[in-house]
Amino acid sequence: MPDINAIVSAMTLEEKAALVTGASAWTTTPIERLGVPELLMSDGPHGVRRVPDIHAMGAVSLPSTCFPTASALASSWDAGLIYAMGQALAEEALALGVGLLLGPGVNMKRSPLGGRNFEYFSEDPYLAGELAVSLIEGIQSKGVGTSLKHYAVNNQEFERFRIDAKVDERTLREIYLPAFEAAVKRAQPWSVMCSYNKINGSYGSEHYDLLTRILKEEWGLEGYVVSDWGAVHDRVTALKAGLDLEMPGPRARRTQAVVEAVNDGALDESVLDEAARRILRIVFMAAETPKGGAFDVDAHHALAQKIAGECIVLLKNNGILPLKANVNLAVIGRAAEVAHFQGGGSSHINPTRVAVPFAELKALAEDAELTYAMGYPADDSFQPALIEEAVTLAQAADVAVLHIGLPSYKESEGYDRADMDLTAQQIALIKAVSAVQPNCVVVLNNGSPVAMGDWLDGVGAVVEAWMMGQAGGGAIADVLFGRVNPSGKLAETFPARLEETPAYLHWPGDNGQVHYGEGMYIGYRYYDARKLPTQFPFGYGLSYTTFAYSNLELSSHHFRDVDGVVVSLDVTNTGAVAGKEIVQVYVHDRVSVLARPPKELKGFAKVALEPGETRTVSIPLNARAFAFYHPGHGQWVTEDGEFDILVGASSADIRLQAAVTLQSTSALPSLLNRESTVRDWMNDPRGKLVFMPLYEQVAGGMLSALGGGEGLGGDGGAIGMDMTGFIMEMPLLSLLQFRDDELPMPAEAIVDALLAQVAAAGDFAAQFA
Ligand code: BGC
Repeated sequence: MPDINAIVSAMTLEEKAALVTGASAWTTTPIERLGVPELLMSDGPHGVRRVPDIHAMGAVSLPSTCFPTASALASSWDAGLIYAMGQALAEEALALGVGLLLGPGVNMKRSPLGGRNFEYFSEDPYLAGELAVSLIEGIQSKGVGTSLKHYAVNNQEFERFRIDAKVDERTLREIYLPAFEAAVKRAQPWSVMCSYNKINGSYGSEHYDLLTRILKEEWGLEGYVVSDWGAVHDRVTALKAGLDLEMPGPRARRTQAVVEAVNDGALDESVLDEAARRILRIVFMAAETPKGGAFDVDAHHALAQKIAGECIVLLKNNGILPLKANVNLAVIGRAAEVAHFQGGGSSHINPTRVAVPFAELKALAEDAELTYAMGYPADDSFQPALIEEAVTLAQAADVAVLHIGLPSYKESEGYDRADMDLTAQQIALIKAVSAVQPNCVVVLNNGSPVAMGDWLDGVGAVVEAWMMGQAGGGAIADVLFGRVNPSGKLAETFPARLEETPAYLHWPGDNGQVHYGEGMYIGYRYYDARKLPTQFPFGYGLSYTTFAYSNLELSSHHFRDVDGVVVSLDVTNTGAVAGKEIVQVYVHDRVSVLARPPKELKGFAKVALEPGETRTVSIPLNARAFAFYHPGHGQWVTEDGEFDILVGASSADIRLQAAVTLQSTSALPSLLNRESTVRDWMNDPRGKLVFMPLYEQVAGGMLSALGGGEGLGGDGGAIGMDMTGFIMEMPLLSLLQFRDDELPMPAEAIVDALLAQVAAAGDFAAQFA
């Protein structure tokens, strides 16, 4: 690695201004004079979309392996496998001359209607963060960079270039940022891509708080911030905010604007130097890894199949699966012949080959007879003849397997979904076929939950195969015939009704704004809090075997936040075949000064077990597992108190639980102020100490001021209210002011004196912290 500072010092203003904008759709600007090479970037995230002409954005890319998309991947909950996929992606990137891959995407699935949800992992920030760390580490372990995207609060496609996402600070910190935070702090992606949208009034590309204060200063990003393609509005404002590299390029006017801004003093040259340094460091890091050669097409296809097998979620099974090798199958549905394995948009891969589900089934079916009917058309027309043909075939077979792929006009990057429904023809097809053939298996290929209420009861089994990558057809056959025991679990809730989804009333916004009115309550946090039934809950998935949970143990029942606690338990395979179970650990805070979701995922493990085998699983929980973000303190805090550790097979199937007591080491200043209510004073440990001696006096005075009554805690009184409750909601200052004439000094002075005592007690306590 050359001396970056020396290079920056040797660069002219014009060269620096040129470097911070791309030279083409996919490359950075080289500087021959100083030996600065170009860096080639390509999409991401589940394959290498290397466009041969670097000036073309949307052209057909060179062949590469299309791995399972993020919705699918996340359902594997398998960090090790995702790391391996990262390594394979990097090998392909290198073979195709690519130095940095644009992914992964860790935006939260706020609504099942998000058109791009298939590119994102989960509705849960912890799970998304863990999986992103693995993918980034896998890719970067081979000397290829990543670009973590889209930072931040890009949760919809509707007006994605301009919508202003209005989200409160705590929700931002607890839901929309943690996956980015974990990935940056632990895996150091070589770059982070800003989002197109605005966040609380500023574009993602111009957001100083997000780009500089949080991402670079607080989390310590060492790489560069790159714009999403076309996300920059004012280049100088973006630079000042911390946006290092604008893509795509070239944009001569932007470069000129930067030069002029430095020359006329509007932009401090040190800001430009810092952006140049960040970009150059990564350009040279990427250059260290030799490019070219070939990747192992067969091995990567096989890996893609193995991963897809781990991603498939068995949603329903009345025992019809796994299929017997000798049953005659009516294979129905266009997706059986034309595999629906990826989504539309920038992540669209030109696959090296495609496993056709029908052919893969045939290869495993041994003596059985297989017939095929298309069942539904590619477009949105309604064609009853196709349904009739399928019904005839299904009647003549032992089992009907329906391959249902959600068409791209209903789901893609660039636009949101209008509903959660399959097409009208697909719904009619499933109903008609299952009416004549109860041995009916539905295999779904989609990137986000679909409604099943119309037909779920009538079918024998449902297999969620997602947008499963190019080798998914083989994985589906493996699962249907029991060569692979399904082990995926949902990384997102399948809602019962769209109208019951968390963001329903706040989606997709209007008048240029979308209000995140549901706050932290997205996904299972919402369904838990509302006690709403779901179609299938977060963390859910069936297997061909069964698992028992026992012997929950904690390394300690009483621990300090900084020490954390280790949760261990035994998992036993109680069925007849080998299988894998995903054990989930959720934390519930019994009492908190700020509202908290009923429970939150804080740990998980995937464990492989032979029939009858038992293994002990240990899952560590650190301080963060118990913490919440307190906007008043502007930081993550823990509180003393009791928590429940809930161990489940899904968010709705808690098998074991135990209570623990946490001792907080957060030494926080008191937040009491002149506006604080009597309740605030009572809830603040130091405030309570200082205020208690005054309480009876003040409260009693209030009673007489209001004309007497039954007294504190009474039921009624002169004006028919419980005075304790009334007083608790009043600011102490207001309460005192009712007795202003009787006070020896102004009410403000009394409150200020109490506040001073609280502060002094805090300073005293801090000496012992
Ligand atoms: C997408 C990014 C992508 C970029 C380059 C944008 O439209 O939002 O995810 O990396 O294009 O293709």
